[in-house]
Amino acid sequence: MPIRVVTGLCILILATQPLCFAAGGGDDVAVGNKGMVVSVDGIASRAGIDILKKGGNAVDAAVAVGFVLAVTFPAAGNIGGGGFMIIDFPDKTKPVALDFREKAPGKATPKMYLDGEGKYVEGSSLEGYLAVGVPGTVKGFEMAMKKYGTLKWKDVLSPAIALAENGFPLTKKRAESFNGVRKYFVKATPGFRRLFTKPDGSDFKEGDLFKQPALAQSLKLIGEQGSDAFYVGPIAELIAKDMEKNGGLITREDLKNYEAFERSPVIGTYRGYQIISMPPPSSGGTILIEMLNVLEGFELGKMERYAPPTLQLIAETMKLAYLDRAKFLGDCDSVTIPVSRLTSKNHATELRAAIIPGKATPSAVLGKEILTNAEAKETTHFSVIDKNRLAVATTYTLNGGFGAGVVAEGTGILLNNEMDDFNVIPGRTDDKGLIGTPPNLISPNKRMLSSMTPTVITKDGKVFMITGSPGGRTIINTVLNVIINVIDFRMPIQRAVDAARMDHEWMPDVLSLELREIPGDVIEALRGMGYTISPASLSWDPGDAHSILIDPQTGLFQGAADKRVEGSAVGY
Ligand code: DON
Repeated sequence: MPIRVVTGLCILILATQPLCFAAGGGDDVAVGNKGMVVSVDGIASRAGIDILKKGGNAVDAAVAVGFVLAVTFPAAGNIGGGGFMIIDFPDKTKPVALDFREKAPGKATPKMYLDGEGKYVEGSSLEGYLAVGVPGTVKGFEMAMKKYGTLKWKDVLSPAIALAENGFPLTKKRAESFNGVRKYFVKATPGFRRLFTKPDGSDFKEGDLFKQPALAQSLKLIGEQGSDAFYVGPIAELIAKDMEKNGGLITREDLKNYEAFERSPVIGTYRGYQIISMPPPSSGGTILIEMLNVLEGFELGKMERYAPPTLQLIAETMKLAYLDRAKFLGDCDSVTIPVSRLTSKNHATELRAAIIPGKATPSAVLGKEILTNAEAKETTHFSVIDKNRLAVATTYTLNGGFGAGVVAEGTGILLNNEMDDFNVIPGRTDDKGLIGTPPNLISPNKRMLSSMTPTVITKDGKVFMITGSPGGRTIINTVLNVIINVIDFRMPIQRAVDAARMDHEWMPDVLSLELREIPGDVIEALRGMGYTISPASLSWDPGDAHSILIDPQTGLFQGAADKRVEGSAVGY
C-alpha cells in the first residue's frame, strides 16, 4: 500500500542514521560571524557558503542551496515540488513570505481519488502521475532571486549543474536509501527506475559517483531561459507530454498559469520575541503562533522540561490548535480563514480555559467531527544568514520521499506527490487521523494545505533565530519544541535541536514522544492522566530542524544541524 511505501522509505532513510546527541549540547555548533548555512547535506551547505563568500547575500545562498539539494538530496530537494521561504531583512523593510506551493491541476476534482462506490483507491494520491501537483519551486526561486537576490541567476544555478553533470560521491546512507527506493515504488516510471539503478544493476555503494545528465540538462535550460524553460518551454513540453501519455492531469496550461506569490508572513509575539512564519496555504505559522499564545499563559520557564505537568500542558495545547487546523485551514485563495482570530491572544485565552491541569481531554470530546490522512515524511528545511543579517528560512518538498515515483521522461526531474496533502476523502474524518473537512478539499487550481513552518524569530528588531523542519504534520510541533526549548527552557541551540521531542496532532489521539530522555515514571504518570503514548520510533519522523541562533551578546551566528539526519552546519 503506497502510504506504507512512503513511510517505509522514511524508516529506511532514518534507520541507517546513527542517533547520536551531544551530551551537554552547545559544544558542537558551527560558529561564524559572516555567514551561516545549515541544511540536511554538507555539499549543499558548503555550496551556500561559497555563494556568500563570492559576495552573494542570504537569498542567493538559499536559492543555490535549494538547487543543489535537488541534485544531492533527491528524497526531498527538488525542482519538481514546491515550498515556502521566509525572508527577514536587517533594515526596517517588512519580512516577506514566498509561497511556491504546488497546486491542483485544472482538471482536478474533489473525488478524483475515489472509485465508483466512493471508496478511496489505495495509493492513488500518493504514487504515479495522478498524485502530482503543479510544481512551484522554480517559479519561487526565480521570484526570490529577481526581488531579493544580488547575483546572476546562472551563478546560483551553476553549483547544482556541475554536481548533476559531474556527479557527487554518495554517502553510505544516501546509497542505501537509493537502493531501497527501487523496491518501494510499485508504480515507478521507467525514468525513475533508471535514475536509481546502476547500469550493471548492482547496488549503490558509499563513494559511488552519482551523475544525473538529464537533470543537468534541465538545470542548464533553466539557467539559460529562466523559469520559462520549466513552465512554457522545453521542460513544460516534456512534462505535459508525459502526463498526457500516462493519465496524468497536468497540462501545458496548468504549467503556464502557475504563479508563485509573495505574501505577508503571519506574525505573532512570544514573551517579547517576534515570531515570523508561514501564512496559508501553510497551516504552519498560524498554528505555531496559536500554540505559542496558549503557552505564553503558563510559566513554562519555571517548570521542568520533561515533567508530567509540563508535557501535559504542551500536549493539550497542541491538540487544541491542531483541531483548529482541521476546522479552518486550507488555501487562503479558495477559502476564508480566520487567521487573525486564530492567532489572537484572546483566542489563546479561550483555549487555555479548556485545558484541565493533570488530565488528557480525549480528542474526540474536543472535536466530535474530524480526522486526517497521515502525511508522508520527507521534506527538507534549511536556514541561511549573511553578514548583513539578512535571514532566510526555507522548507520545500516533494511530499513523500522521492515524490510520486515519477520522473518526467527526458527531464531527470522527480515529481511530487503533493496532491495527497488535500483531504482526499471528502467528509470523512476519523480517529485514525484522516481529515475530510471542507477547507482542504480538492478543487481545480487550489493549493493543498501544508504544515511547513519556515520561521524567523527576532528580538528588539534584530534576528535571533532561524528554524523549520520536515515531518508532515509533525512539523509545526517540531518547530514549537525547538522554540520553547530555547526561549523557555534556556537551552543552547544545539541542545534545543537535539532534545527529545513531543507531538500530538489532535487526531489520532496519541502523544508521540522521543523516549530517550524521558524517564519511565514520567511516561507512567502521563498514561495515568489518560494519554496514549507512542514512543517516537523510526516510523515516526521527529523532524530535522536545521537551525541558526544569533547570540544576542556576541552577535555570533551559531549553526545547529539536526543529528537525526546527516545535517551539516557551515559557518565562516
Ligand atoms: O506540505 C506539507 O506539510 C507536507 N507535504 C510535508 C511533507 C513532509 O514534511 C515530509 N517530510 N518529512
